Amino acid sequence: MKKRTKIFIIIFILLIAISIGAMYVVKTINYHKTYEYKLLKIGYNKEEVAQIEKLKNDTKDYILTLEMDKNILELINQKYFLEKNFKKYLDYYNNNDKTLDDVVAIINVGADKEWYTNTKKADISKGNLLLTNKFYSIDATYNSDDMVKVSNQYSYGENQMVTKETFDAFLNMFNEAKKNGLTLIINSSYRSYEDQEKTYNYYKNNNGEIYADKIAARAGFSEHQTGMAIDIQTYGSTAKTFEEFDEFKWLSENAYKYGFILRYPKGKEYLTGYEYESWHYRYVGVDVATYIHDNDITFDEYYAYFIEKD
Ligand code: DAL
Ligand code: ZN
Repeated sequence: MKKRTKIFIIIFILLIAISIGAMYVVKTINYHKTYEYKLLKIGYNKEEVAQIEKLKNDTKDYILTLEMDKNILELINQKYFLEKNFKKYLDYYNNNDKTLDDVVAIINVGADKEWYTNTKKADISKGNLLLTNKFYSIDATYNSDDMVKVSNQYSYGENQMVTKETFDAFLNMFNEAKKNGLTLIINSSYRSYEDQEKTYNYYKNNNGEIYADKIAARAGFSEHQTGMAIDIQTYGSTAKTFEEFDEFKWLSENAYKYGFILRYPKGKEYLTGYEYESWHYRYVGVDVATYIHDNDITFDEYYAYFIEKD
């Protein structure tokens, strides 16, 4: 082989070696910039990294500012985890003695804040899924344009009103309950803004604001103004005793089949802001009621996760 050819081959091999080396260096530098590398370096394992990598860059950047924290994985695997609340969840978890699923529920519904602060206008375009609670209000003038009068065959008092769909659903439920020898009586249903104001003020004046806020909504914040809430009683029952009656037991097992949910359940006071009300049922339609019943969540949680998630 000629000397020139040899030199050429050597140069060629050197160039290839340099190129491969350079490529390797570039690749390494680039890899060091990836989330995978940085997360592994903090101490997450491959499987955890894969889960974290699915999050948005902003969230990942935030995670990289923190020390390795196994709670983060548990958090992002929570059933009702909403990424937009990531920072709030962690802050709340680190400052309160609560389980992660409680934290997710509390933050999702906004119950980390004082009741009646940060209030917003309810989205009245949501129809049967219109949410009112201590953070969502409807205008004093709001009225459903689809109200019907309830015959006193089904209610105490003369002037009960609900939305047409609520009434039709109630009627089906009433008839089925009747077949089982049970009587459902509507004790309270639609209440105007002014009626609600009177109701709330009655408790406030007699028992003080703290008590009133536990059992009655302030005007503009009540489901009763939507025409989709009904307080159910039966012969001989009172608010205090209704849960001891067979009608209550039957409703607990069957109301969802007609589109009604128990709106203020026992044990969920920290999410709803109200004391347990065994009598207050809210029409949301069969599909949503079934989900809420089967998954043992409140309407507030359902709304935050499925309706308002963005
Ligand atoms: N009792 C329920 C919370 C209301 O006043 O709307
Ligand atoms: Zn009620």
